[in-house]
Amino acid sequence: MNRHRQLETDMSTIYIASDHGGFNLKTFLVQYLKDKGHDVHDLGPSDPASCDYPLKAQAVTDAILKDENAFGILVCGTGIGMSMAANRVPGIRAALCTSEFHASFARAHNNANVICLGERVSGQGIAASMVDVFLSTPFEGGRHLRRINLFNK
Ligand code: RB5
Repeated sequence: MNRHRQLETDMSTIYIASDHGGFNLKTFLVQYLKDKGHDVHDLGPSDPASCDYPLKAQAVTDAILKDENAFGILVCGTGIGMSMAANRVPGIRAALCTSEFHASFARAHNNANVICLGERVSGQGIAASMVDVFLSTPFEGGRHLRRINLFNK
């Protein structure tokens, strides 16, 4: 629980993946985040052929569990399947976001380590803003830490 980011200028290590339904938004976000100087690991796919989102979610959650200061981004058509798959993994707190408000509170109150986005729901502009907010908002800890520690009990 050492995720206390204060500055938007902090650079993050990010693991990102999608299925075919999120491929275009994932491709956009990879370049957007690289241009900002983040350490971006694109875990695929490398083309928009049909693929199974649980396997892509697993690639990102495996990486996050090995690198606890990193963040994950998962994109599918709606963000729903990715969030369902990621949240089955103990230690992963994946937040399906459609607004900057979601992204802010996912970090501040839930200490989310993965943001899930829907390409068919959110355009590139709002998706980029949500990711910026997600990466720059610190976890508040305190009573929120007590609550997230009750997960999986
Ligand atoms: C793929 O058609 C679609 O089902 C997937 O991208 C995602 O939205 C599932 O939750």
